Amino acid sequence: MAVNIGKNSRRIIERDKKIMITTTRGSYRFVAERGEGDFAFDADGNKFIDFSSFVSVYNLGVNANREVRNAIKKQVDVLMHAAFTDYYSELPVVFAENLMKMLPDGFGRVFYSNSGTEAIETAMKLARLFTKREYNLAFYGGFHGRTMGSLSLTASKTKQREGFGPFNSALHAPYAYCYRCPFGKEYPGCGMECLDYIKKYTLEKEASKKEVSAIFMEPIQGEGGYVVPPKEFVKGIREIADDSGAIMVSDEIQAGYMRTGKFLALDNFGVKADIYTMAKSIGGGLPMGVTVTKKSLGDIEPGAHANTFGGNLVAVAAADASLSYLRRNRMAIQSGVIKKGRMVLKRLEELKERYEIVGDVRGIGLMIGVEFVKDKRSKRYGVEEREKIIAKCFDSGLLLLPAGNSTIRIIPPLTISIRNLEKGMDIFEDAVKSVAEVKA
Ligand SMILES: Cc1ncc(COP(=O)(O)O)c(C=O)c1O
Repeated sequence: MAVNIGKNSRRIIERDKKIMITTTRGSYRFVAERGEGDFAFDADGNKFIDFSSFVSVYNLGVNANREVRNAIKKQVDVLMHAAFTDYYSELPVVFAENLMKMLPDGFGRVFYSNSGTEAIETAMKLARLFTKREYNLAFYGGFHGRTMGSLSLTASKTKQREGFGPFNSALHAPYAYCYRCPFGKEYPGCGMECLDYIKKYTLEKEASKKEVSAIFMEPIQGEGGYVVPPKEFVKGIREIADDSGAIMVSDEIQAGYMRTGKFLALDNFGVKADIYTMAKSIGGGLPMGVTVTKKSLGDIEPGAHANTFGGNLVAVAAADASLSYLRRNRMAIQSGVIKKGRMVLKRLEELKERYEIVGDVRGIGLMIGVEFVKDKRSKRYGVEEREKIIAKCFDSGLLLLPAGNSTIRIIPPLTISIRNLEKGMDIFEDAVKSVAEVKA
């Protein structure tokens, strides 16, 4: 599947550069035109196996599946926008009721918005109202969005924050990024110094634990490099939240929706949060953010928080069709994710054994990261190596996305066939091999 960037893509990119405010796009020249199942096609008809789910959105296949598309088409002819925070409507209530069947007992208050960052803003505002406290605690490497509230929590790359301060009152603490332990320790046997640090420093020297409104954590860091923490870390954060009376918010926006084989990624750690935020794949391909709280946290006054488009009927129709498909096929999707994830990890572990530039391989289910380094001893970030591998894969018809400083994410649609997954992995392996061998 050799890819040739044709004149259509080139022209669109030129026009884009003249008019669009910049996004995160770098040198990647993929111009999306259409997609189906495991594949995406560009504006020149080049075909790609999708290992990105278009940033964890198409969990049920590129352009969602037929059921979701039909639900969207049907709703468009009935009513698209219902002014759901001003008027009542049944479909958003139905979806909320269905969503609750996927959440732990005790959850039962739902707020709709249009994106991940808004789901986080909602959680921040609710936590402040519920606790009447000022500070939020988040983690280095964490990504929670780019509006002014959520950006105060995001601490993934300084580029994302530079020039935008001053921010909301946020504290940041080291995440358990064990491959690059900020304390120079090795897991296990490290005594979880990262947890001690929060107790001894962040909540002793910077802000009193009585002032912490909420702790925001991604169960697996996404944008920050696909970092999987040990269970003890996540459990320890829950204990810190309990001890300080803070609300624990699990940001499931990237890691949730069966990506790890479980509906909630936090469930992999045997921990429950007080608020869950979801977006990306929850809308079945349409924009949607959802903030779900425990009933016991309480309610807020009418008018205290609202928006225009939250609960948009087309988005909710897509979300409900997607969830209904997921619920009916839950066992098959779950076992597929586990089996496929194991297969990918096994192949990546072999690459790690063989090549100096493959520093770390980690993940749960089909949320997998490969961190590239200059060499295993120094662990210097293999930034150029990562870029070359992404480019080579692209030229061979495999769509990927980076994360963190030198990681590549492997996040195909959960429904990808074994055959296409193997094919994609063949392309990936060839690219790693050629970059590693040129270097050697
Ligand atoms: C974990 C996490 N939280 C929040 C966001 C922000 O979502 P959005 O881009 O929809 O605002 C993202 C986006 O990548 C994310 O991965």
